[in-house]
Amino acid sequence: VTRPTLQLLLVGFGHVARRFVRLLAEQGERLPFTATVVGIVTRRHGLCVADRGLDAVAAADLVERGGLLSPPEASSPEALVNVVFDLREAAVGGRVVMVETTLLDVRDGQPARRHVDAGLHAGLHVVSANKGPAAFAWRALQHTARRANRSFLCEGAVMDGIPVLGLVRDTMPGVRVEGFRGIVNTTCGFVLSAMEQGQPYAAALAEMQARGIAEADPSLDVDGWDAAAKVAVLANAWFDAGVTPHDVARTGIAGIEPRDVLAAAARGAHLRLVASGRRLSAGVALRVAPEVLEPGDPLATLRGVENALYVTTDLLGEVGIVQRTGTLTQTAYALVADLARVAAVGAGHLQP
Ligand SMILES: NC(=O)c1ccc[n+]([C@@H]2O[C@H](COP(=O)([O-])OP(=O)(O)OC[C@H]3O[C@@H](n4cnc5c(N)ncnc54)[C@H](OP(=O)(O)O)[C@@H]3O)[C@@H](O)[C@H]2O)c1
Repeated sequence: VTRPTLQLLLVGFGHVARRFVRLLAEQGERLPFTATVVGIVTRRHGLCVADRGLDAVAAADLVERGGLLSPPEASSPEALVNVVFDLREAAVGGRVVMVETTLLDVRDGQPARRHVDAGLHAGLHVVSANKGPAAFAWRALQHTARRANRSFLCEGAVMDGIPVLGLVRDTMPGVRVEGFRGIVNTTCGFVLSAMEQGQPYAAALAEMQARGIAEADPSLDVDGWDAAAKVAVLANAWFDAGVTPHDVARTGIAGIEPRDVLAAAARGAHLRLVASGRRLSAGVALRVAPEVLEPGDPLATLRGVENALYVTTDLLGEVGIVQRTGTLTQTAYALVADLARVAAVGAGHLQP
């Protein structure tokens, strides 16, 4: 069986994208597609473009040694638009994919929304690990994708590479999701878990930053914005809610005192940041807030970096998925899984 070759334009070349290009190289023959990186665009590290493909692992080595892909002034929003525009002809056959891994801006999901939109309009498929586009503009971007006969996929937006969106989309045809509830922010789960062991809040948060798990701006985690963005993604995907993270009732963990955590732990309960959403007869109820999880609550068994999501459905009752490990490899894998789907749809093996 010949494997389709995808041409990739990487927009953003940070921790996730660099792990992703190494994972592509490591997985090689095991993947159901082959991939050629034809461009890399960053914000401050320059850009490089090569129609015939470039050595992305060497580019990752270069950036990790402190090098630049080109003079930094070469990378600008206009330069990115030009790179995308130049790929239009190559994209006609449906084999060019934008891999979007820029940073989440919780004010409006930009500039990632513009990147996704520009990619789809130029005939590229788009896969993204950035929550912004799906959290702020799911409906519009899926509409644009359908009209262009292209895919916009973002499995990495929620629980990294653990198949959450794919679980429902690909394995539960005809099932209606009524609600969901979970622990989906690794940093907050880890910090609260560490506080139960007597570790100070600041030290636990610093450990998450050192491990590259906390967002570049950790207030996105501790103020509940990351979890709210994930709730918005799920509500948009499963309820067609048309919401943004600003529609999620949100309380973070920054105000939690050690005594609150320890008081819960003393009676076998656990204080955690819980994300939830459910359909109402009219509209939706979406929430991120600290909750005391009593023993017997399936979320109460999670420790450290573990995440879980329980989905309530009409036909299958409650279905849960647990993530025990959350490293960059899992996030990078989400992009690989999305690309495998793009390749399978292109080969006619899956419905878009
Ligand atoms: N790290 C994780 O564990 C994880 C897990 C799940 C999802 N995510 C999501 O994945 C995305 C990437 O995370 P990361 O850890 O790789 O972040 P990162 O290391 O900070 O990398 C972000 C990259 O985006 C580039 N960038 C920012 N704004 C840009 C723009 N306007 N145009 C072009 N490039 C731009 C940056 O360029 P410069 O370096 O030149 O500024 C950098 O290469 C984020 O949305 C994050 O929320 C991350």
